[in-house]
Amino acid sequence: MEEAEKIIDENRQGEALMLPTNVTGNKKMYLESYGCQMNFADSEIVASILTEGGFTTTKDFNEADVIFVNTCAIRDNAEQRVRTRLTDFRKAKKKNPDLIIGVLGCMAERLKDKFLDEEKIVDIVVGPDAYRDLPNLIFKVEGGQKAVNVILSKEETYADITPVRLDTNGVNAFISIMRGCDNMCSFCVVPFTRGRERSRDPESIVAEAKDLFAKGYREITLLGQNVDSYIYAGGGLKKEILTEEQRTSATTFAQLLEMVAQINPDLRIRYSTSNPRDMTDDVLHVMAKYENICKNIHLPVQSGSSRILEAMNRGYTREFYQERILAIRKILPDCGISSDIITGFCTETEEDHQQTLSLMEWADYDFSFMFAYSERPNTLAERKFDDDIPEEIKKRRIAEVIALQQKLSERKTKTHLNRIHRVLIERTSKRSDEMWSGRNSQNIVVVFPKGNFKPGEYADVFVDKCTATTLIGRVIS
Ligand code: 5AD
Ligand code: SF4
Repeated sequence: MEEAEKIIDENRQGEALMLPTNVTGNKKMYLESYGCQMNFADSEIVASILTEGGFTTTKDFNEADVIFVNTCAIRDNAEQRVRTRLTDFRKAKKKNPDLIIGVLGCMAERLKDKFLDEEKIVDIVVGPDAYRDLPNLIFKVEGGQKAVNVILSKEETYADITPVRLDTNGVNAFISIMRGCDNMCSFCVVPFTRGRERSRDPESIVAEAKDLFAKGYREITLLGQNVDSYIYAGGGLKKEILTEEQRTSATTFAQLLEMVAQINPDLRIRYSTSNPRDMTDDVLHVMAKYENICKNIHLPVQSGSSRILEAMNRGYTREFYQERILAIRKILPDCGISSDIITGFCTETEEDHQQTLSLMEWADYDFSFMFAYSERPNTLAERKFDDDIPEEIKKRRIAEVIALQQKLSERKTKTHLNRIHRVLIERTSKRSDEMWSGRNSQNIVVVFPKGNFKPGEYADVFVDKCTATTLIGRVIS
């Protein structure tokens, strides 16, 4: 489904990630990735490190020398999916005992060397900050040992590594601008799996964006767990930026966004994810100033109840969040807004749930990612609260949340009818070979007859039809 491309691309979860065909090597890796965009961006760093070491990619894990699975730990089902996947690889390892199996990413970081005990076929366990060590770890395994590196770093941002783009359409690319998270939301495993927050040198981000533009890319998405918290004052941990002087001379997210927007008016900029407690009006004013910064903000609310937000340690109330939405609507009247919602968090009452529904309606979200609460080991919530909402109630509440969002999205899509939209062409539509598919500034998919256009070009499309989530039109320029 095209709408799933927005944040977590369901189509790409667990799919073989491929290098461009001109990259050759004497060894073959099979690489697949789960979870968020950040993980997919990390897989491009992994691929870059391994191509240096003589690897190319394969779509068939049966012919691989090494299988790497870049894992997610955000909810229990993300981990179960990886466990199931490992059983598929067991047969391949039986046929080829030299096959090396490595688990990377958040689940690797969470389980550390326990992974080796629990899953006997695993040879390598590597956390998100240790990818530079991969060639060395492979060497160790070739020598007959198991290898683990789950050290989290204060400095690592992979700033000097140019990611190789996997499965690229040559139009869209991700750039990670920071790593880790210091927010400590009580439900979330990320601070434990990705470590403390640190921002990447803005010069290296701008250089990477310029290089992508020169290679024909036309849209970049700046990635971080909490982009509004970006601050660069020479490197190292955010919490160690202490002096007034460091703060005043530091680069903020608003400044970084402006630097990237100025590269070229034909380069579109998106970013993800914002955090309500850190989102400043500065960022909104920069967005208003530059046509090429897309008018779409992903601002996860998680719950509409101030009491639950407090238990989640989100650092804002319902009213504070509403004030942020009003600021967006005022400064950026045409901005799309999307959200993440968790239902059935510890102690959530029917009244709390109703407040989530009423907030969704009030905020009039274009789109939401909606989840039932899944307790994660060692998080603040696991230590402090009982996971006390029965599964059936979680299921009923999430169904109500999903139904409401569907209604809001359909209504929102219709507001885009009978208007002209500037669309960046990305690929052939899944509906028809004769149609292009791209997105408007608000991140809604637009399809239209191909004509003489090519991917990477902009088209002004008059939209006169739509499905629930896709706009359909024809080019007028
Ligand atoms: N259970 C359910 N959903 C979660 N998320 C994060 N942790 C959990 C959890 N333990 C959701 C949040 C977050 C998104 C990436 O995943 O909504 O914004
Ligand atoms: Fe991404 Fe969070 Fe999953 Fe890690 S746990 S891959 S940061 S979604």
